[in-house]
Amino acid sequence: MIKIAVTGACGRMGGLIIENVLKSKDLKLVSAIDVTNIGKDIGEVMRAGKLNVLVEDANNIDAALDRSKPDVLIDFTIAPAAVKNVTASARKKVALVVGTTGFTPEQRTLMEKAIKENNVSAVITPNFSIGVNVFWGLLAEAAKRLGDYDVEIIEAHHNQKKDAPSGTAVKAAEVISKAQGGKELIYGRHGISPRQKEIGIHAVRGGDIVGDHTVLFAGDGERIEIKHQAHNRQAFAKGAVKAAAWVFTAKPGVYEMADVLELRTRI
Ligand SMILES: NC(=O)c1ccc[n+]([C@@H]2O[C@H](COP(=O)([O-])OP(=O)(O)OC[C@H]3O[C@@H](n4cnc5c(N)ncnc54)[C@H](O)[C@@H]3O)[C@@H](O)[C@H]2O)c1
Repeated sequence: MIKIAVTGACGRMGGLIIENVLKSKDLKLVSAIDVTNIGKDIGEVMRAGKLNVLVEDANNIDAALDRSKPDVLIDFTIAPAAVKNVTASARKKVALVVGTTGFTPEQRTLMEKAIKENNVSAVITPNFSIGVNVFWGLLAEAAKRLGDYDVEIIEAHHNQKKDAPSGTAVKAAEVISKAQGGKELIYGRHGISPRQKEIGIHAVRGGDIVGDHTVLFAGDGERIEIKHQAHNRQAFAKGAVKAAAWVFTAKPGVYEMADVLELRTRI
């Protein structure tokens, strides 16, 4: 059995990850870590009945890791918290699955440094769904063939989402920019802002939208839209749990979901 700890255990994604860990015959939940509901049974927090795993305080993550000795830690929190959780886990040689988004380049570097210095394996991705990972591959293909078309990325998420634009939209922009030899990214437009050769990125926030991403390639007389819509969060949770089983046997290094899904040649 692969022993799993979850940081952000009481959050929207944390709860679903735990549900999927409990369903898996290969994984065992050994620790639920958060900054709320400390000391409560995580099963009761999730309204799933007692699981005999008490929520431990993320501020004492070292103690939680020493007690539970997980093989893999899955983090769905917020960027600054994820950096701390990843660093603490890497020091204890725990493999990692990181779904948190909104990292600054400095935060991302700090996290990768801790992973590499401690020789652990980690899967880090802003989106664990198979659909989105194929979507990024399609964008790379389209971007190579439509180099002179205007590119706009429009994403929509629920009104509780903290970071903008979404990590998935940022990754889409990176994939397209890379395929087209490097492009400037513009986040929204306001006032006099004539279009140049940039990639425009726009974030919509409202209601309970799980996650929509549309990429528009617009040329003279035609346009293509490539769109992904998540109907619920299960696709992310299932992907993260699959990544946890995969990363446990992976060689030390930083991986993406494309590696787990063996899509690497396409993205
Ligand atoms: N990669 C993906 O496929 C994917 C999918 C969905 C969401 N996300 C990202 O996952 C993150 C969490 O999303 P959510 O919707 O579950 O958010 P949420 O707000 O519902 O949950 C976040 C949880 O983290 C907890 N937390 C805060 N600081 C912490 C710390 N220091 N240590 C441990 N826990 C801490 C909060 O108390 C909360 O319970 C966001 O960054 C979101 O963008 C990624």
